[in-house]
Amino acid sequence: MKVLVATQKPFSATAVAGIEEIVKNAGYEFAKLEKYADASELVAAVADADALIVRSDKVTPDVLDAAKNLKIVVRAGAGYDNIDLAAATAHNVVVMNTPGQNSNAVAELAIAFMIFMSRNQFTPATGSEIQGKKLGIQAFGNVGRLVGKKAEVLGMQVMAIDPFIPAEKIREAGAEPADSLEHMYSSCNFISIHIPATPQTIGSIGYDLISKMPKGACLVNTARKEVIDEAGLEKALAEREDLKYITDVAPDNYAAMKEKFGLRIFATTKKMGAQTAEANMNAGIAAARQIVDFFKTGNARFQVNK
Ligand code: 3PG
Repeated sequence: MKVLVATQKPFSATAVAGIEEIVKNAGYEFAKLEKYADASELVAAVADADALIVRSDKVTPDVLDAAKNLKIVVRAGAGYDNIDLAAATAHNVVVMNTPGQNSNAVAELAIAFMIFMSRNQFTPATGSEIQGKKLGIQAFGNVGRLVGKKAEVLGMQVMAIDPFIPAEKIREAGAEPADSLEHMYSSCNFISIHIPATPQTIGSIGYDLISKMPKGACLVNTARKEVIDEAGLEKALAEREDLKYITDVAPDNYAAMKEKFGLRIFATTKKMGAQTAEANMNAGIAAARQIVDFFKTGNARFQVNK
């Protein structure tokens, strides 16, 4: 049995060593492909793998066609929009994620983003404080709930909305449920986005929502760039000189937008929400354990292509 870790953006060396230990202790072969430049390298490396651990690496039909022995792919992380689920199912490959394992890292970044933008990207002009401001959390899953808890401790008022979580559960978790997205966008100083990229959510946050935000508001995206309608975002930022956008996933036309909007926009150079030693360890080790458990006992608890 061969387990391949294929990560364009590698885990920390400690996390990789932990994964290797779990794989070898289970009696399996361990292989890794890190920082690969071209998808063809993944296609070649996966040829004799029985199991695959990835991060945001694209698991396309080409990869799945080449992986003749593949039985399981674990996305070490939450969002699995990088994996072609239909192709995996057609190849009888089980796909899992590791929900919650990197959530704290992403939640901390969302909080840091709010402070960074409130302090004018750490330039000396007079900024503002997040204490006393209202935060709207779009999707109240593992990351959203953690952002809410941390924001509350920092003195923010927290509102949230989630199509899959009833209002009373949101209230029980200490946040005010929003009646609608429009209601939340129009009443919050910050909106933190935690929705996955799905056919329903792609391009769903655009001009109509963003332009409803109150004066000086900031949109915070540690989710996926695809959920933003970039033309709508650009239009809203151009019309309203008070609005701000910060993202862990640069818009396609980031250079031009940065030029136009200066300190009102910021994007990290590489997605870094989950890039902490702790999150690497948690998600990497969970992925390795899930694979061993799947092979030894058939446990498919975190399967996402059922
Ligand atoms: C996730 O979906 O878990 C995060 O976006 C992290 O992605 P990464 O593993 O590519 O950093």
